[in-house]
Amino acid sequence: MLHIDIISVVPDLLESPFSHSIMKRARDRGLLEVDVINLREYAVNKYGQVDDYAFGGGAGMVMMVEPVDRCIADLKVKRNYDEVIYMSPDGELLDQPLANRLSLTGNLIILCGHYKGVDERIRQHLITREVSIGNYVLSGGELAAAVLVDAIGRLLPGVLNDETSALSDSFQDGLVAPPVYTRPADYQGWPVPDVLLSGHEAKIAEWRLQQAIERTKERRPDIWQDFENQEGKH
Ligand code: ADE
Repeated sequence: MLHIDIISVVPDLLESPFSHSIMKRARDRGLLEVDVINLREYAVNKYGQVDDYAFGGGAGMVMMVEPVDRCIADLKVKRNYDEVIYMSPDGELLDQPLANRLSLTGNLIILCGHYKGVDERIRQHLITREVSIGNYVLSGGELAAAVLVDAIGRLLPGVLNDETSALSDSFQDGLVAPPVYTRPADYQGWPVPDVLLSGHEAKIAEWRLQQAIERTKERRPDIWQDFENQEGKH
């Protein structure tokens, strides 16, 4: 079971992402627990203040150390955490190997930033890992946290019905996924490749591998480079 506490100033943003489809199933099966903590419960005054002006001036508010420190301290009373993650565009880029690694942990805290960011002392003293979901800036860490939890949660054993299906995902074997088709076999003159209708399992597997290789070379030369380097080592 993986337990994730997400600290946010906009907890409503995180209601829906884990209440449907595969994330709902993961929670219903007791494989994933997600708690969203409203940082305002740890505000420094009765007005719910959790941010303040930046020392030295400049536009934008900064999330204060104290509420985050007290919130994390409270959480740590109940659990030992493997990582305290801060979602940030200057963090380590999320990829499949990182999702795989995090899916093997037991307890995680994810802090969602807002405004102009968080007081640097939070990052220095409380955060153990910083994760970015891509080279673009979101208005807050919540949607990024939802992406991270989804990518991790679906990897937990027992979440996907066919356990092999996460193994055939894009990136899981270092290649992007081959194309897939469903009925009808011919839609208004747009046919499905014959081999997929042949019933010949070995030929189908070979075709899928070839397609995955061609697609990776064409669409993701960066990933293809990594794949070739890996293969070279074996
Ligand atoms: N917060 C704002 N932008 C982000 C990004 N790209 N990844 C993670 N957290 C973020």
